[in-house]
Amino acid sequence: MLEVSGLTVYYGPLPAVREASLKVAAGQFVGLIGPNGAGKTTLLKAVSGLLRPAAGRVVFDGTDITGWPAERICELGLVHVPEGRKLFPRLTVLDNLRLGAYLPRARAESDRALKEVFDLFPRLYERRRQLAGTLSGGEQQMLAIGRGLAARPRLLILDEPTLGLSPRLAHEILEVIKRLNSERRLTLLVVSQEVVHLLKLADYAFVMETGRITAEGPASELIADPKVRKVYVGL
Ligand SMILES: Nc1ncnc2c1ncn2[C@@H]1O[C@H](COP(=O)(O)OP(=O)(O)O)[C@@H](O)[C@H]1O
Ligand SMILES: [Mg+2]
Repeated sequence: MLEVSGLTVYYGPLPAVREASLKVAAGQFVGLIGPNGAGKTTLLKAVSGLLRPAAGRVVFDGTDITGWPAERICELGLVHVPEGRKLFPRLTVLDNLRLGAYLPRARAESDRALKEVFDLFPRLYERRRQLAGTLSGGEQQMLAIGRGLAARPRLLILDEPTLGLSPRLAHEILEVIKRLNSERRLTLLVVSQEVVHLLKLADYAFVMETGRITAEGPASELIADPKVRKVYVGL
């Protein structure tokens, strides 16, 4: 479904992503792990059109989308929930979700999409008239994911959906993400520092270090890899 090959992205003169290649097959739950500053966010932004790569290709469902504007990419069904949530704090929960469904593709079925989001996150329904900025961290993260879902994704990219959450809430969020994949067959590419938990839930994972993809494999094999365990699991 997604094929990234030889992607290179610069900030000014410095490359943050170097010749990175990865694949996500339809229906797969893929994890992307690596230390802070490895280039994970930069890679995801270049995939979804928020940054322009200097080299390489991004192919989504057979269409070369390299360098396309983010809105057109989103309209194809490749939806990116950015790091840091980027909600509208002074708008209500409901209005934040409606903004997720504004593109033509999603607008036609926005009522159904909102119902699905509320089924998944009942707490958002209870708080639908509350301003987003007054939600707890975990609820804001649910809202950010919900807004992504409202855009009717075929591939959902989640950048650090567990950032800043307590371990319990982080696990809760990852379990919901897993259900999106197992129950709704949503294809996922997820970055999280909750490496052990992510690798337990994902089908396949890529490891990124200093701008490069340095390892990949079935998540169950990576979690057993001594190098991965040493660096990421702290064992
Ligand atoms: N807007 C920016 N301008 C310049 N350098 C940046 C910018 N954003 C990130 N970087 C640098 O690019 C590298 C990769 O960052 P990032 O993609 O955010 O990594 P990760 O998401 O893996 O933590 C880091 O060295 C970071 O300091
Ligand atoms: Mg990041």
